[in-house]
Amino acid sequence: MHNNPEKEKQLAAKEAVTLLKDGQIVGLGTGSTIFFAIEEIGTLVKNGLQIKGVATSDASYQQAIALGIPMLNINDVTRIDITIDGTDEFDDNLQLIKGGGGALFKEKIVASMSREKIIIADASKKVNALGKFKVPIEVVPFAVNYVRQQLKKLNGNGEVRMKDGQTFVTEQGNYIIDGDFGPINEPIILSRHLNEIEGILVHGLFVNMADSVIMGVHDTTVTFT
Ligand code: 5RP
Repeated sequence: MHNNPEKEKQLAAKEAVTLLKDGQIVGLGTGSTIFFAIEEIGTLVKNGLQIKGVATSDASYQQAIALGIPMLNINDVTRIDITIDGTDEFDDNLQLIKGGGGALFKEKIVASMSREKIIIADASKKVNALGKFKVPIEVVPFAVNYVRQQLKKLNGNGEVRMKDGQTFVTEQGNYIIDGDFGPINEPIILSRHLNEIEGILVHGLFVNMADSVIMGVHDTTVTFT
C-alpha cells in the first residue's frame, strides 16, 4: 500500500482538532499539515465551537481570519491552552526538527507558552535519527558568517537559505541558516550548544516540547506519547 502524504496529513489534522474544547486559546502552527487543521477548526467554529486562536505566521493568521476563527495577539494572552503544529522530522523520543517553512521563531514562542503541544505529521516525518532534514537556524543577518564558523566547530555545515534566487527573509527580518550536522544522536546536547551561540535567535531543534505526535499512516492515525 502506497503512502498518500496529503491524506495522512488530513487524517492527523482531523484527529488533533477533536482534542479542542470550548473556551480554549489555541496555538495554530504553520505549514501544509496545519493548513488542514485550520480548515477543520474553521468548520468547528462555524458549528459553534468557541475557541480563540494565536497564529505562528502571517499565512496561518490570514487563513484563520478568512475562516472566521477569532484571533488574538500573542501579547494579549498570558497562556495558550493547546497548540497544534506540524514538524519536519520526529524521532522515537518525540524530539523534533521544525522550521522548514521558516516560521520557527513564532512556533517556538507559541509552543513555549502552551500547556499542551500536539504535533501532527504524515508518515514520512518519522525518523530513526534526526538530521536528514537540515536544522533551520534563524540568524540576525549581521552574525551570519560568525554563526557559520561556530557551526563548523560543532561539525556542522550551514548554508544560508535562498528562495527564488534571493536570500530568504523571516517575518522577523532575519536569515535562515540550514545546518547539516549528519545524524543527530544527541539532540538535547546539540540544542544546548546552539542556544549558546550569539547571533542565533532560535533554532529548529524542538527538544522535550511535544506532548504527543499524531501521525497519519495510510488510512488511519497512530498517536505517539
Ligand atoms: C514551519 C514548520 C512546519 O511545521 C514544518 O515545516 C512542517 O511543514 P509541513 O506541514 O508543510 O510539512 O516548522 O516552520
